[in-house]
Amino acid sequence: MKSVKIIGTGSYAPSKIVTNSDLSKIVDTNDEWISSRTGIRERRITTGEDTSVLSTKAALEAIKNANIDPLDIDLIVVGTASPDKFIPSTACLVQAEIGAENATCFDISAACTGFIYALNIGTQFIKTGQCKTALVIGAEVLSKIVDWSDRSTCVLFGDGAGAAILQSSHDENGILSIYTGSDGRNAAEFLGCSAVPVRNPFIKSAEKQESLVTMNGKDIFRFGTKIIPKCIEEVFKEQDCTIEDIKYIVPHQANMRIIDSAAKRLEIDSDKFYMNLDRYGNTSAASIPLALNEMARNGLLHRGDKIILVGFGGGLTFGAALIEWMID
Ligand code: ACO
Repeated sequence: MKSVKIIGTGSYAPSKIVTNSDLSKIVDTNDEWISSRTGIRERRITTGEDTSVLSTKAALEAIKNANIDPLDIDLIVVGTASPDKFIPSTACLVQAEIGAENATCFDISAACTGFIYALNIGTQFIKTGQCKTALVIGAEVLSKIVDWSDRSTCVLFGDGAGAAILQSSHDENGILSIYTGSDGRNAAEFLGCSAVPVRNPFIKSAEKQESLVTMNGKDIFRFGTKIIPKCIEEVFKEQDCTIEDIKYIVPHQANMRIIDSAAKRLEIDSDKFYMNLDRYGNTSAASIPLALNEMARNGLLHRGDKIILVGFGGGLTFGAALIEWMID
């Protein structure tokens, strides 16, 4: 089996900033409620750029940072719950924009865990020799499926994209372990968004249905606090390191109180979790790579640092990756 490492990251968020006070003009809410219950102060909302555009901009930064030619990329996987279209995939749209003619491209649906799942797929393709260089992306334009009349959900989400280039390596093993899992029981009651209903000339009364995000906040809250410690425990299995050796945990940015509660369960300081939720809100599949690239840009990561990425979301889906940073 080959080793796999991250050789570059990138991210992009739309320039329009929407503050909590801006939202108080749309729904009955206020800055105090949103920031104290979630930790969110503002989020980025697209004024026209769709998921493939955000993905392409994140991908171009990752390609530049990795110092590779787009023709070297032989796999593109996009984790998204808000693609531009059913067909073609977001990954194919990105491929055309960046000129990665040699890549196999597809999207995966794992909601907020989308980036961890995409990272796992890229890693397994490289380990088995199916490909050498993979572009993995987490990207969302959730603002197009959010119910802007529902104050309990519309204040939580933001738009954005993050990307990483993975490459096979003979000597250095950057992706030390990955764990993923799912639980489909009663999942739509936790968090859901319908696609198109079944309708054709052979059905008398076709169902009318809108594609909008619905959520049971309290259940998701409880799920998040339990599943983060479980995923972190799982990535340490058969590994020669413990939580003490970890410099940062980069979690899915859903709610500051979920992170505080998970930190308590893990008996670690909340500061070990890198957070940018206050500025971006919950960007679903984009949140982890957006945070990771911000850390790389700000010089927080050095060769040899051990970090954990951990995500959870609709499906239900969950997962984590234990990574040794290999970029100087
Ligand atoms: N502004 C003001 N008041 C509000 C708002 C708002 N935006 N939203 C709800 N309220 C009101 C409710 O109507 C309710 O009022 P009532 O007591 O008069 O009935 C009150 O605030 C309390 O509402 P709750 O839903 O009980 O609030 P709670 O403390 O549970 O917080 C929240 C809600 C922030 C959504 C919390 O449950 C949470 O963070 N859950 C996690 C969900 C999450 O992170 N989802 C992200 C997507 S899922 C994912 O990423 C995996």
